Amino acid sequence: MSEYLYVKGGGVLEGKSVIHGAKNAVLPLLAAGLMSENGITVNDCPYISDVDTMCRLLIDIGLKIKRDGRKISVFGSPITTKIPPSHAKNMRSSMYMLGAMIARCKEVTLPLPGGCVIGARPLDIHLDGLKKMGVNVEIVNDNIYCHANTLHGADIIMKYPSVGATENLMMVASVASGKTTLINCAREPEIISLAHALRAMGARIYGDGTSVIYIEGVDKLFGSTITPIKDRIVAGTLVCAGALCGGDVIIEGGNINHIMPLKHLLENKTCDISGDEYHVRVRSRGYLRAFDVTSAPYPLFATDLQPQLLACACFSDGISNIVESVFDRRFAHAIELKKLGFDIRLNDNSCKVVGCNSHAFDMGRIRGGNLYAKDLRGGAGLLCATLKIRGDSKIFGVEYIDRGYEEIENMFCVLGAFVQRKIE
Ligand code: EPU
Repeated sequence: MSEYLYVKGGGVLEGKSVIHGAKNAVLPLLAAGLMSENGITVNDCPYISDVDTMCRLLIDIGLKIKRDGRKISVFGSPITTKIPPSHAKNMRSSMYMLGAMIARCKEVTLPLPGGCVIGARPLDIHLDGLKKMGVNVEIVNDNIYCHANTLHGADIIMKYPSVGATENLMMVASVASGKTTLINCAREPEIISLAHALRAMGARIYGDGTSVIYIEGVDKLFGSTITPIKDRIVAGTLVCAGALCGGDVIIEGGNINHIMPLKHLLENKTCDISGDEYHVRVRSRGYLRAFDVTSAPYPLFATDLQPQLLACACFSDGISNIVESVFDRRFAHAIELKKLGFDIRLNDNSCKVVGCNSHAFDMGRIRGGNLYAKDLRGGAGLLCATLKIRGDSKIFGVEYIDRGYEEIENMFCVLGAFVQRKIE
């Protein structure tokens, strides 16, 4: 028996969608909860499986979790520094245990993290930075063992602006003695969200959102209540679907400043994308222009929106060139979409998409079909494409989509789409 999304596409999207806290902001915040002896409360948590997995992982090591609707409180103390593999293996975000546990206990054993298969995801930048702050690192039988007698500040140059490494190093530096300078930091809004939370807990962090972050270590962190930023990738997914299907979609909670490259790629005379810090609106007739794009760290075009944008390219008026520069295997959705008749030519880390609106025989040649999501954002990209196709499709691999989208079928049904979750 497998669950799938049954999609009858071809309609426009109209209405309002409300988005919640960002997965990639909430997960490090929940982990950071264990750094404070008084615990923390995180507001506006989405109902997604990665959040459930993170809570289970924290419970595994002895933390207490209280969930009151969208509010999750993390409190108590770890009773072990060994993270069991059961949940850690399922989720890349178990990497946040490195920073949070070293900051709290100066020791952790972490099974090498799992997660969506979208390319090699080493931890060398995390581990190099930790070593500079006095952490001994050993990797034995797929486990990372880290321990430190004392943690001290350091000047750390990251060879790439890794989101997770910037976050882990910020956590450890917050309680390391002396000053830390992190150079070539990731500048994603989720970094600012974590820095804001750590400051509320008593940390002294300056420069988050720029490529150099300064941290003055403090003795300990306190409890706090934190509201994460809204999910810019969920907002961007809705923007792609709205631009592609046509209609009028208001995304309450979306921040237009967080999705500027997407706005510029999709906007044209018949597709208007507007908004401010609190909402985004897409008014589109469903005709899209071809484009060239390369995914890259923020503020450039987000890799987490590449599959959804590729779906838009499939229906555009010409040839689009899409280069994936962040991950090295993030085109599983392109292989699936080719099965429906789309003209997509893959070449290592790039692909050329010949939009079907540029063909004389137009979209009529594209039929719905059975598709298999192989990762979270790829699944969202498949759904965007099938919402546009006049016909029936089934998307399997819903468990990947559930990692990061809260009841995605309802998210689109409130906008008038026909998407049902079924089992066969
Ligand atoms: N990298 C290294 N060494 C490291 C760390 C990263 O070589 O030590 C490389 C990775 O292999 C990758 C690139 O650097 O090629 C970017 O990785 P990064 O560390 O920035 O990504 P991450 O922290 O593992 C977060 C998000 C991802 C998002 C990326 C990029 C979370 C929990 N995950 O991952 O989100 O794609 O940043 O923006 O915040 C998703 O939500 O679907 C997702 C995959």
